[in-house]
Amino acid sequence: MAILKIARMGHPVLRRVADPVADPTAPEIARLIEDMIETMRDAGGLGLAAPQVHVPLRLVIFHVPGERAGAGGETQALTVLMNPVIEPLGPERNADWEGCLSVPGLRGQVPRFTRIRYSGLDREGGSLSREAADLHARVVQHECDHLDGRLYPSRMGDLSFLTFESEMRHFPRAKDGNETLDEPAEAV
Ligand code: NI
Repeated sequence: MAILKIARMGHPVLRRVADPVADPTAPEIARLIEDMIETMRDAGGLGLAAPQVHVPLRLVIFHVPGERAGAGGETQALTVLMNPVIEPLGPERNADWEGCLSVPGLRGQVPRFTRIRYSGLDREGGSLSREAADLHARVVQHECDHLDGRLYPSRMGDLSFLTFESEMRHFPRAKDGNETLDEPAEAV
């Protein structure tokens, strides 16, 4: 396994639409998944998308551990999802803070669908379909945006809520705290 270099905002791999994974069980995909897990753990993140490690494939990994889910929030064990499809479950959105390993040092308040259904393929090539809410839903939407060349600032409604981490203290905390997706919580 290896810790991979993370692409930063401006790199073309973060701006393109990623390609479908042709064979989820191929040895090179298994190796990529292991390296992405190690890279995400090293960075202390909640999720990582393959384009963030310079691989333009439709593959994301994520988890929502209890200490990040907040009181009463959904937790989610580590999940590998390929060729994902997201369907909003209703029109409701909420805005909360996000960070991104590809946009280091910044945080932004981003509106996302509160409840979604996501589906795709797991690492054994089987189909996976789940409903998700709140932070779990937010992480999946953030990571899957990477597959379409989108970074969270392009989802923000009000860019005056884009801030350096060191200036976060000037903003009121969102209802669930300062959520960061593929950056460590302690960086907030
Ligand atoms: Ni990100």
